[in-house]
Amino acid sequence: MDKELKLIQKIIIEAANAAREETKSEPEPEKPSISKWPITCNVGPGLEGAIACESRVGYVNGAKGWLVYRGYDIFDLAANATFEEVCYLLLHGKLPNNNELAEYKNQLFEYMHINQTLRRLMGFPVEEMSVMGALRLGTNLMRQEFTNMDLAVGRPKMINAISSDEDSIAMENLPEGEKRAIYEFKIKNKAGFKKDTKRSDRFFEKQTAIEACYHLIAGVSTIIGAVSRVHQGRLPIEPDPELSHAGNLLYMITGKKPDSVQERIMDIALILHADHGMNASTFSSLVVASTLADIYFAVGSGIAALSGPLHGGANEAAMRDIRAIGSVDNIRAWVDEKLTKKSKISGFGHRVYKTYDPRARVLSPLAKFLISDNKKYQQLYDVAKGLEKTIMDSSISKDKKVFPNVDFYSGLVYSCLGLDDELFTPLFAASRVAGWTSRVFEYIQNNRIFRPRALYVGEFNKKYVAVDQRD
Ligand SMILES: CC(C)(COP(=O)(O)OP(=O)(O)OC[C@H]1O[C@@H](n2cnc3c(N)ncnc32)[C@H](O)[C@@H]1OP(=O)(O)O)[C@@H](O)C(=O)NCCC(=O)NCCS
Repeated sequence: MDKELKLIQKIIIEAANAAREETKSEPEPEKPSISKWPITCNVGPGLEGAIACESRVGYVNGAKGWLVYRGYDIFDLAANATFEEVCYLLLHGKLPNNNELAEYKNQLFEYMHINQTLRRLMGFPVEEMSVMGALRLGTNLMRQEFTNMDLAVGRPKMINAISSDEDSIAMENLPEGEKRAIYEFKIKNKAGFKKDTKRSDRFFEKQTAIEACYHLIAGVSTIIGAVSRVHQGRLPIEPDPELSHAGNLLYMITGKKPDSVQERIMDIALILHADHGMNASTFSSLVVASTLADIYFAVGSGIAALSGPLHGGANEAAMRDIRAIGSVDNIRAWVDEKLTKKSKISGFGHRVYKTYDPRARVLSPLAKFLISDNKKYQQLYDVAKGLEKTIMDSSISKDKKVFPNVDFYSGLVYSCLGLDDELFTPLFAASRVAGWTSRVFEYIQNNRIFRPRALYVGEFNKKYVAVDQRD
């Protein structure tokens, strides 16, 4: 197994070398900084080109095909780091040392237990809701569970230590019962204690906000797992302390403990999706947070934005297309029809990358690696590769710089891990929540409410006409 993990690392290093070789003629960007606002920049529709804020969290360079988290190249992180390290890096601006990592992992695992949220969520018809819909609702309920602590009424009472057992929902594995009940009391008590200390308000707010970030990163995965189990007609599964965050995400969905290869590939997929500049869902989270609405609402808006087919929803659409094409013999006709109708092909094109998306460079060989052991998906992989070649040879790639993006191969990777299409976008959210929270956390420290303008192109001076006199 160790040999296979090394092979995965080698695959990523090779993808990185190929990427660097292909884009070496592109000039390296200079480190930009804004010395004084306001600044002048060219802005297109959809705020294309507009600079919304300064950030140290992450960087995307479309010409070089660079994706950087806090100064670290995505290929380096994918080859060497874990998702937990990457979350810590994004939130705190530095890689954790051993103690920090151990503590963070512990906290993340503890925060995966959101029984009260799950109990409330299961009161809704989640079996009829999309996982993204249920996830959005779930983060709202997490807000209820977590931020109520600030209210006098939410202060810890001894009774909570016992009553939290009633918050437990039926589990397929043994609930931790009493241990968990005491734990729930402890978190509430901890927060109550902080509020009463003499620390400055600013420090308290910062600590609370960072805890909310951890809580959201952990809880989003738990909600996805629980809702997915209900969709399978099964009961939710509690996370396992022996597994990593990625391993637990898989376990809480499938009910099977993943092997180390499955766990590592899920881990890499989470790393690759964690942050990506000022994309629509990140921007949407920042806009909501900039009104000083809390981070749970901000993340909820990120989830809503991500659900659209032009954003996170593209991975599901890409997989549907690959299945619909069905065989390599059908690719040419399918592509011709799409291009004649001027339809967008899911999993291709990007607002920023005008070269091969670095995340797709990693996911494509990982899909191949997984398929070598799982021939069931060989035909779909062949179709995907054939479709990529057809697009790369076509005028849309050559003239319009349309290349495969992250969503093209992620669906195949997830399918090989035994995950249903309906989970592809939620898995994106399970990772991107790290980027949303990191950027919100950064932005609100220097907050300014967002308020762009629309160019009014309507009419003036129209006279009101009474309803019965209108045509
Ligand atoms: C991601 C996306 C919205 C980026 O859009 P954008 O930067 O605004 O790019 P544009 O829509 O301006 O496209 C520029 C040109 O390339 C073409 N193009 C871009 N993506 C294309 C695609 N996936 N299939 C076919 N043509 C595409 C456009 O039709 C346009 O052609 P035109 O100049 O003749 O009108 C777009 O590429 C897309 O819709 N892709 C499919 C959905 C997807 O995979 N989304 C996930 C992104 S990670």
